[in-house]
Amino acid sequence: MEKEFIEVKNERYRLGYHIMASNGWINDPNGFVYFNGYYHIFYQHHPYSEKWGPMHWGHARSKDLVHWETLPIALTPGDVEDQDGCFSGSAIVKEDTLYLFYTGHHYYGDNDPDHFWQNQNMAYSKDGIHFTKYEHNPVIAKEPADNTHHFRDPKVWEQNGVYYMILGSQENDGLGRVIIYRSKDLLDWEYVGPMTKAKSLAEEGFMWECPDFFELDGSSVLLLSPQGIEARGKDYLNLFQTGYFVGTLNESDMTYAHKEFKELDRGHDFYATQTTLAPDGRRLVFGWMDMWESEMPEQADGWAGALTLPRELSLKDGHLYMKPVRELQALRQETQCDTVQKIEAECELAHELKQHELIIDFEKISLDTAWTLSFDTNVAQVMHLTYDPKNHELILRRTDNNEARYGTIQEEKVFSCQVFIDTSSIEIFLNDGETVFTERYYSEAPLACRLTVDQPTTIAHTVYALDSK
Ligand code: FRU
Repeated sequence: MEKEFIEVKNERYRLGYHIMASNGWINDPNGFVYFNGYYHIFYQHHPYSEKWGPMHWGHARSKDLVHWETLPIALTPGDVEDQDGCFSGSAIVKEDTLYLFYTGHHYYGDNDPDHFWQNQNMAYSKDGIHFTKYEHNPVIAKEPADNTHHFRDPKVWEQNGVYYMILGSQENDGLGRVIIYRSKDLLDWEYVGPMTKAKSLAEEGFMWECPDFFELDGSSVLLLSPQGIEARGKDYLNLFQTGYFVGTLNESDMTYAHKEFKELDRGHDFYATQTTLAPDGRRLVFGWMDMWESEMPEQADGWAGALTLPRELSLKDGHLYMKPVRELQALRQETQCDTVQKIEAECELAHELKQHELIIDFEKISLDTAWTLSFDTNVAQVMHLTYDPKNHELILRRTDNNEARYGTIQEEKVFSCQVFIDTSSIEIFLNDGETVFTERYYSEAPLACRLTVDQPTTIAHTVYALDSK
């Protein structure tokens, strides 16, 4: 009997304007690319259950980064080269063809989930909808001799007429690193060597997943998701991190020297990013809006996982800013509130929030004002964001897991806060993306948002209802 896709049984946590699969599990964004007038995004997808399983590539496209159309599954595992999964990877356009590069996952069949091997494969499409796996797959059959079996997540780009592919890797000594290949035609790949050297297990982890490499505002950025960095004080508190290095590429041997690893998003639910270049030159990024091994109450409803909003990256003084793309303004429906007001101690800014955007500009605020923005329902506390002016520190507390996450700002104060709420997610962008918190929350009741200040403060705030599917 043919297996059937799982169905969504309850819509209560379904997001209104974020990318999700129509059913089943998703994790990493894959293959983010602009091709023939559409942005395409793919994602790791298991359509048969609400849990991770043999990975497919789900697929959606959009003309405007706002309205997404779900397309048929692009890659299905089970061929010799990708027997047990089509793992993460990237896309590149060459002439009139869209190429996908992905990792083939293979178990040895002894029921040991860590006993596997991986290779790299390609698929192509002319219409951006139907994909054909390359008949001579794999394009890279095996990891280099000094590598363990962790060898995955190809990101491909073109530079000076040469194609490069970086891969997340683990050196034989158990340290995470990035390795690099090159090709003239996207078909034959030659190993160049390690692009980075890891420092130590505690500082940089044991496996670097989902590497991405690009030039941004005059520097070379390596964005990646290392596993195994130990928590240190208020940093690296998630199970796995997503962050970046800023550094310099030596083009003669393609090695990369970099500064320290920094987290990109300070929230609980952000992992496995993928970027692309928009036609107008902006560097855009999606992340998976969840975390491995965290509780996902939507699994009870036949699905799990979503992507973040598309965001634009920029680099200022060695720090990556990440703000929602401006196209998202097209989601705005009626303005529910647009006022300037003086707050003595506490004020409700908005209520009945389900799919909304909230913008707060701190117009007259003394530099030593402490404030708290709280998101609660009429039955439960959900999440509080507090600003401590002494340490220029932001503290986000989620009531469901009682775990705090921390961020700092370099600016002398928080001057703006933009919040996107969508049924079961909250994304908070402070100071135009200087510090970002991405969070899931699970409550069927709508949220109210309150601001508490420890001295009188004047704010302007606007609330928009957003268009949802
Ligand atoms: C990252 C990751 C990738 C892998 C994929 C499998 O979240 O572990 O390294 O390709 O997920 O679904």
